[in-house]
Amino acid sequence: MPYAHITGWGMAVPEKVLTNADLEKMVETSDAWIRERTGIRERRIAGPDEYPSVLGARAALKALEVARLHPKDVDLIICATSSPEHLFPATACLIQDAIGASKAGAFDLLAACSGFIYAVHMAAQAIRSGAIQNALVIGAETLSRITNWKDRNTCILFGDGAGAFVLQASDRPGGVLAAVMHSDGSGGNLLILPAGGSRLPASIETVTNGHHYIHMDGREVFRFATRVLAQSTLEVLEKAGLRLEDVRWIIPHQANYRIIEAAARALKLPMERFIINLDRYGNTSTASIPIATCEAVEKGLLKAGDKVVFNGFGAGLTWGALVAEWSGPLPSATRPIHMERYRPLARLRSWLRRSIRRLEGLIWGRKA
Ligand code: COA
Repeated sequence: MPYAHITGWGMAVPEKVLTNADLEKMVETSDAWIRERTGIRERRIAGPDEYPSVLGARAALKALEVARLHPKDVDLIICATSSPEHLFPATACLIQDAIGASKAGAFDLLAACSGFIYAVHMAAQAIRSGAIQNALVIGAETLSRITNWKDRNTCILFGDGAGAFVLQASDRPGGVLAAVMHSDGSGGNLLILPAGGSRLPASIETVTNGHHYIHMDGREVFRFATRVLAQSTLEVLEKAGLRLEDVRWIIPHQANYRIIEAAARALKLPMERFIINLDRYGNTSTASIPIATCEAVEKGLLKAGDKVVFNGFGAGLTWGALVAEWSGPLPSATRPIHMERYRPLARLRSWLRRSIRRLEGLIWGRKA
């Protein structure tokens, strides 16, 4: 049975920074309050032309470059997102088109902030089963567009960004070792985007009542998160036959410093063992774990052979954890990669396919 290695990683965040001082001018809050209660100092906000697929495609190409894979080598794209561009088509399909992954299946996975862990697990299972060779897993968000900038309970928390992993099959032992996934839909109302789906379609009322924004019971979510983060970590380690001492790094979902502190206390681990960058990005939902991972690799913290636990929680309610032995690019990855070429090629490919569709429409007597 092949192993599923994490062989590529990439991130993309918007340039625009929104600081706590900026938020002080928008709602009744203070930099001191936000830092003390959450640990967040600033977050990134998408520009008018930046969507999850735009950020996601950027992160994906970087990840492919690290893994030295061509977009056409990708068999499967899973995009975990809490702020999909549309209900359908899937954001994963938009990314597939943007990078020219012409042979890939593509779908979105909705498990909110736990989505990236779920998606890596699903991709790893597809590789382990022998069904596919190469997968691209992306977490991509523009949460700023579903945030109520008048609600101080939520608007201080979230930010935009994307991160991606490449997973590849190899006979070499290592890679994703085990994962656990959990859910409790009875808490669905605690963190919810009430309208815009088929239950509450958009109407003047839903817009007037702000039902297209994130609604959250912060205290309840806090209580839930502090409970499950440590629990799922211990559970996944047991499943993998590992002990906490075997683990070099914990990379948690970046929601709130105090939640991570509570998990560290419960696990009796020093905070130095946790990768934390939420002070600069806030909660980027599905993107937070891959973004934190990319920065850890860049800083030289995460090295091949390190055992790392990723753990997260979110709306649903959902939570989960995954333990992996960090790999880096496969030894066979030596081909030259020209990422700068793939985007224009993908654009041309997409344009050609649209043109052919239009032409076929004319031939078959329909207006394009
Ligand atoms: N600035 C200033 N005061 C604020 C505030 C803000 N941005 N937001 C809330 N407050 C006020 C409240 O109104 C409340 O005032 P009151 O005591 O007069 O009623 C007080 O601060 C304490 O509110 P509380 O909700 O108990 O604060 P908290 O310590 O629980 O922190 C959160 C609030 C949202 C930071 C915290 O509950 C949290 O992080 N929850 C988890 C959220 C999360 O991670 N969601 C995503 C999951 S993926």
